[in-house]
Amino acid sequence: MEGKNAGVSFIIMNEIVLPNDTNTFGNLMGGRLMYWMDIAAGMAAGKHCNFPSMTASVDNLSFKTPIKLGNVVHIEAKVSRAFTTSMEIHIKVWGEDLLKQYTYESNEAYFTFVALDPSGKPRSVPALIPETDEEKRIFDGALRRRQLRLILAGKMKPHDAAELKALFTTPESIGEEN
Ligand SMILES: CC(C)(COP(=O)(O)OP(=O)(O)OC[C@H]1O[C@@H](n2cnc3c(N)ncnc32)[C@H](O)[C@@H]1OP(=O)(O)O)[C@@H](O)C(=O)NCCC(=O)NCCS
Repeated sequence: MEGKNAGVSFIIMNEIVLPNDTNTFGNLMGGRLMYWMDIAAGMAAGKHCNFPSMTASVDNLSFKTPIKLGNVVHIEAKVSRAFTTSMEIHIKVWGEDLLKQYTYESNEAYFTFVALDPSGKPRSVPALIPETDEEKRIFDGALRRRQLRLILAGKMKPHDAAELKALFTTPESIGEEN
């Protein structure tokens, strides 16, 4: 299967925050934003692999700035790395006040989607080719993020997380272990 450039999967999604999307503070509800982010991530995954795919995990969703009623939600999603059957998707979210004409960062997150065959079994996806400096930087960090999320999901033993271990291990500490 031929690799695909990261830019192929890039999508932009816009929504406007309506009263039914808000909490009692007049801000966009976190759950509604996660729903939109999940849709954006699914579209990016679909553009990369051209197969149906499913959310396997979402990491580190922290909301920096609330998005106000009547503001526009701007979501950008792009596949940051493809593994065997799974794809990591990087999402960035901004709010935009159209009347006062300013844009502000809201949050960012990584979603993992798994491509499925017609019987619902994971299937292989094309490799991802990063091109820009930012794509390469995010691609390089993806192995560590993958190991961390698999450990947290109980799907990998910490002992097997070579990328993570390398972060915390110095040549001296290897000597101490032995
Ligand atoms: C995601 C799912 C298809 C994976 O199936 P599985 O039988 O666990 O498959 P495997 O263990 O063979 O893993 C398949 C891939 O998923 C990845 N994966 C599995 N669980 C994961 C998790 N919690 N986080 C990140 N990736 C995960 C594996 O790393 C593997 O990736 P790779 O092939 O690129 O190495 C399955 O767990 C599932 O159906 N989960 C429910 C998904 C769902 O309902 N989503 C909607 C949310 S409401």
